[in-house]
Amino acid sequence: MTETATKKERGSKDGTPPLVAIDDGYAQTKLYGQGPDGQIVRRVLRSSVRIGSHGLGSFAGDGAVGLWQTEEGNKYTVSDEIEAEDPRFTDFHLSPINRVLVNHALSLAGFGGTRVDIVTGLPVKEFFREQRKDEERIQRKRDNLSRGAFPKSNGVEAPVLCDIQVGCQAIAAYVDWALDDELKTRNDTGKTIAIVDIGGRTTDVAVVVGGKSIDHERSGTADVGVLDVYKGVLDRVRSRFELDDDALPLSLMNEAVRTGTMQLFGRPNDVTDIVADVVGQVQERALREIQRRLGRAATLHAIVFVGGGSALFKDIANAYQNGAMSDDPEFANARGLYKYFAQRRRG
Ligand SMILES: Nc1ncnc2c1ncn2[C@@H]1O[C@H](COP(=O)(O)OP(=O)(O)OP(=O)(O)O)[C@@H](O)[C@H]1O
Ligand SMILES: [Mg+2]
Repeated sequence: MTETATKKERGSKDGTPPLVAIDDGYAQTKLYGQGPDGQIVRRVLRSSVRIGSHGLGSFAGDGAVGLWQTEEGNKYTVSDEIEAEDPRFTDFHLSPINRVLVNHALSLAGFGGTRVDIVTGLPVKEFFREQRKDEERIQRKRDNLSRGAFPKSNGVEAPVLCDIQVGCQAIAAYVDWALDDELKTRNDTGKTIAIVDIGGRTTDVAVVVGGKSIDHERSGTADVGVLDVYKGVLDRVRSRFELDDDALPLSLMNEAVRTGTMQLFGRPNDVTDIVADVVGQVQERALREIQRRLGRAATLHAIVFVGGGSALFKDIANAYQNGAMSDDPEFANARGLYKYFAQRRRG
């Protein structure tokens, strides 16, 4: 029996494939669920893809890093070290780039050649249309993911996707807030709660009433997020260090924003002042958008902040008396998607 065949038979004892949730955002692909060995896996990968094959051979000489070809015949390179395509195009969630990222994240997490059930997400604005679930868009996302993506790097295998489901990102974060890891209720679901998901490209607000329905009047998506911080920092760094139009990889921006230091001309440079300024400005913009929808939020039981942007704007929950920060904001959607579909499996 080949190694692949053995791997394909893994999963739970009754033959059900492991369940993995993938919060496939514009900035990062977050993966949370049952690993191939039964242990919980939690991984994050930058959503950094470039069209074409880019010469990033690994030192071992075993070919390009993260090179994929899709069923349509196009090649894509996934890597932090290249300047990525701008993911801020509208149909990212239905694109071959999204398919490559999902497959790449799964193969990095050890699912190469292995059967796996997945659940991915759509932002509020795309999951609903005229106050109803947008079944057509959801189906298009499933269809896109079920098409082929083939790894072209040595030793890398594609995962075998079995069941493919799609949930709503911010509502998933609500489920994460409401249920503990044993899927028992840990927070009062009878009240009205707002979830604010500050991501890379977007800030999603979802107002959940009584654990059952969405208040569409107050829910919605604004185009502001951490990628705006990167852009602001990049503009200021370019001007301070006279960089003209030099391309800087996302990994460098990410590090600068997290540490206040940027490696340029072979040495670390302090950019704390730039980062603090830009973070303050973008946080204000995000708060204005949230306030436009929720006002002072006096009638809400809680406003729960999630997403990588909430981790970056670490005091943002204090802007509201009833604000609360998720325990693990970056992974709230992925964990919630996992909990919701794990509960559905249990029946
Ligand atoms: N503690 C942190 N400090 C600084 N930046 C952070 C921190 N945690 C996460 N980030 C950054 O926040 C950004 C947004 O992360 P997140 O995973 O929420 O975005 P996304 O879900 O991909 O975007 P979107 O929801 O718009 O599709 C990322 O660029 C990530 O690197
Ligand atoms: Mg997100």
